[in-house]
Amino acid sequence: MAAVTEVGGIKLGKLLIEGKTKQVYDVPSLPGHSILLNKDRITAHNGVRAHDLEGKAQISNQTNAKVFGLLNQVGLKTAFVRMVSDNAFLARKCEMVPIEWVTRRLATGSYLKRNPGVKEGFRFSPPKQETFYKDDANDDPQWSEEQIVSAGFKVNGVLIGQDEVDIMRQTTILVFEVLERAWATRNCALIDMKIEFGVDADGQLLVADVIDSDSWRLWPSGDKRLMVDKQVYRNLASVTASDLDTVKRNFLWVSEQLDNLQPKNDHLVVVLMGSPSDKDHCEKIAKHCRELGLNVELRVTSAHKGTKTTLHIVNEYESVLSNLVFITVAGRSNGLGPVLSGNTNYPVINCPPVKPENVSLDVWSSLNLPSGLGCATVLYPEAAALNAAQILGLNNFLIWSKLRVKQLANFTSLIYADKGFRGVRKE
Ligand SMILES: Nc1ncnc2c1ncn2[C@@H]1O[C@H](COP(=O)(O)OP(=O)(O)O)[C@@H](O)[C@H]1O
Ligand SMILES: [Mg+2]
Repeated sequence: MAAVTEVGGIKLGKLLIEGKTKQVYDVPSLPGHSILLNKDRITAHNGVRAHDLEGKAQISNQTNAKVFGLLNQVGLKTAFVRMVSDNAFLARKCEMVPIEWVTRRLATGSYLKRNPGVKEGFRFSPPKQETFYKDDANDDPQWSEEQIVSAGFKVNGVLIGQDEVDIMRQTTILVFEVLERAWATRNCALIDMKIEFGVDADGQLLVADVIDSDSWRLWPSGDKRLMVDKQVYRNLASVTASDLDTVKRNFLWVSEQLDNLQPKNDHLVVVLMGSPSDKDHCEKIAKHCRELGLNVELRVTSAHKGTKTTLHIVNEYESVLSNLVFITVAGRSNGLGPVLSGNTNYPVINCPPVKPENVSLDVWSSLNLPSGLGCATVLYPEAAALNAAQILGLNNFLIWSKLRVKQLANFTSLIYADKGFRGVRKE
């Protein structure tokens, strides 16, 4: 493919890497970035089979932009910045970890050959993780984590040790689980997939490269015969023009499905406070809710002093929304949560603004409920928001995914914190 000098109004610098399906260019005007240009090229079996396929670059670029757009939206750190033209995107310039990270929900394909006796369709819970060293000449051999650590890769100044391997493994599973849930909303089963990582100029470990129809197995209705991924191309005995057209139509269908992923924005967390003096506590809850992508509304009402108004507020929300969670904030005796819980079927989470000096007395009004009531009680604003997100995430994969990313961030930050204290194993 000839060198290109400009895409989407951005002047390209030198061609840094040319792979089987993409070219990577420097971007002089945007230090720390690169532009990845897709080729109209489809390859399989590590390049042994390869065809030009007009329009493939555009479809791959679109698919990749939608997938990475989603990952960025749920808060994952990735190298993808934005699409800059039909067949190119802007990314953080990375030095790549030369490993393919594969995740599988169901056993199929090469896994069956490497693990004789396992039947096709064996379900891995958690998803099975495998790693392959990117080495076309040797057919990308499978590597153990010990081999990766022992290789001592240094990428953009970062030594890839056990910590980095732990983080990449957990991130890979997260990416799979997020996309699996996203695809489930289109009634498609994500069977397995592959991602790559890179380290940018700031030393950040990022999900990089691309994720498109070359990256996964995708079975509509969970039916292998309906597969719409690159396996269709891999499986062809000989490749005719009409076969290539089928492959392209499948890829286009996948890209179009990705346009319909955004769930309806039809949920709400209503934080009811018994008194305006609870405002600060409620604002903290609201902040945590917003960080998790939740819509949140604050109201003031007292179940003791304005019972009818309280119930009217509840009825109003109930009449227009089905994905609804109430968080109740009341000091001293909490009448609000229990009264709500006795009068609505929506989840009620008590988050009383308890003070250390009277926590042991006040908290009982939230905990020791009459029979027939099922409200929950948490003590911290963050816990209230997390609990609400867990409930609403059951029906909304974006919220679920934000929680999942937060879980990973907790895991990762502990590893980095521990690294700072370590005596024996520094790396
Ligand atoms: N953000 C990035 N920055 C720099 N290089 C990248 C980035 N994302 C992917 N690459 C690299 O771009 C190269 C070209 O991609 P590709 O054509 O898929 O190559 P390959 O045939 O080696 O898989 C690969 O070596 C890939 O690792
Ligand atoms: Mg590649």
